[in-house]
Amino acid sequence: MRVSVIGTGYLGATHAACLASCGHQVVGVDTNADQIKRLAAGAAPFHEPGLDALLRQGVESGSLSFTADYAAAASADVHFLCVGTPQRAGSHAADLTALWSSVESLAPLLDRPCLVVGKSTVPVGTALQVRDRLRATAPAGDDVDLAWNPEFLREGHAVEDSLHPDRLVFGVDGNVGYQTLCEVYAPMLTAGVPAVRTDLATAELAKVSANVMLAARISLVNLLAEVCEAADADVGDLTQILGYDDRIGSKFLTPGVGFGGGCLPKDTRAFAVRAEELGVGDPVALLREVDAINMRQRARTVNMAVDMVGGRATGSTVAVLGAAFKAGSDDVRDSPALDVAATLQARGAQVCVYDPAANTNAHRAQPRLGIANSVEDACRNADITLVLTDWPEFGTIDPAALIDVVRHPRIIDGRLALDPDRWRAAGWDFHALGRGTR
Ligand code: UDX
Repeated sequence: MRVSVIGTGYLGATHAACLASCGHQVVGVDTNADQIKRLAAGAAPFHEPGLDALLRQGVESGSLSFTADYAAAASADVHFLCVGTPQRAGSHAADLTALWSSVESLAPLLDRPCLVVGKSTVPVGTALQVRDRLRATAPAGDDVDLAWNPEFLREGHAVEDSLHPDRLVFGVDGNVGYQTLCEVYAPMLTAGVPAVRTDLATAELAKVSANVMLAARISLVNLLAEVCEAADADVGDLTQILGYDDRIGSKFLTPGVGFGGGCLPKDTRAFAVRAEELGVGDPVALLREVDAINMRQRARTVNMAVDMVGGRATGSTVAVLGAAFKAGSDDVRDSPALDVAATLQARGAQVCVYDPAANTNAHRAQPRLGIANSVEDACRNADITLVLTDWPEFGTIDPAALIDVVRHPRIIDGRLALDPDRWRAAGWDFHALGRGTR
């Protein structure tokens, strides 16, 4: 099929490359000329395992191209809207500027029957507005069909999640859209991936609901962690016990500095705003608490660090291991690690950060922070060390060797990534969010 993908960020670039690898003829369109240039050369503008190879393969075979010119989308039969919907400045609601501008640019090109498929995460109700706007402004009028088909990919696993998803969601208002989506995703359907056919509104809610569930789970486990700390109990053992219960499960049960990134925080907030607009304001208090508990983890980490260096950040040297919002990514959007680092710096500490993949983005976002190229360089003469991103590399640090590098052997494990006994045995003053002091 001839497919256009509008918006080539994490979602769009991965989706375009994966559809090309499924045998479709794909053009990716984005207004960011730098990004387009890199993608057209077969290179991802961000860290995503396996994506470079897939992009190169598509570009070299001629089945995948990228352009800043919307006109190139005109010949496609299916158009995927993959633009970003970040948090609106000064509000918790979603900013749909990029979505509406992509609709305005695409509509005049639609002069024959086609399907437009929304993939962006939007407030429920947006799809109907998009459909009406397209039909009112496209030359093809009512021959433009609309479907909503959310994507659940995780950064760091985007290719794997796109090629082998847990499920497909086809939000449609008729058979034409449904049949077309079945053709687009034929290889996955043949491989047995379950597809749920539903209405537009339910499909819009699917992605944000999944993220709200995940966010709530993390804040709940962080609440348990804080109680563990107060009771001198161990949240690591506790989550292991909980995880053996099939109904709870052991995934997504790691406490620490909390969730960040481009999805969970803003989706939780935007969902709450939309629920209030729909008159479901009271139960939304739960989500405000989910957000507050999450932000509290960052403040608790800062306070714990300041306490450990004697009550004042000013004059202390702090090593922060990790800047990305999670391991496997170079994304620092709403990163708890970078937020804690910047707050300590703002309170007068000299902070040096090391991240295996996100140093460049960390520097761009927080130019005043020191940046190091290794754990040792970051920790040189540190009064305290904080592990704030769950990179496996940090779990293998030898505490006996690192003790000779730092000025004071104090460490905070903000990701439950280190073995407390090993660090304490090597002479470190070890604290972890959610772990007692023994
Ligand atoms: C998320 C959803 O998982 C994905 O389905 C959706 O499409 C996009 O949003 P992503 O933002 O890539 O994906 O990250 P995810 O792996 O979900 O982690 C989100 C945050 O939660 C990270 O900051 C991570 O460190 C944190 N987290 C995750 C925890 O604090 N504890 C956990 O147990 C798991």
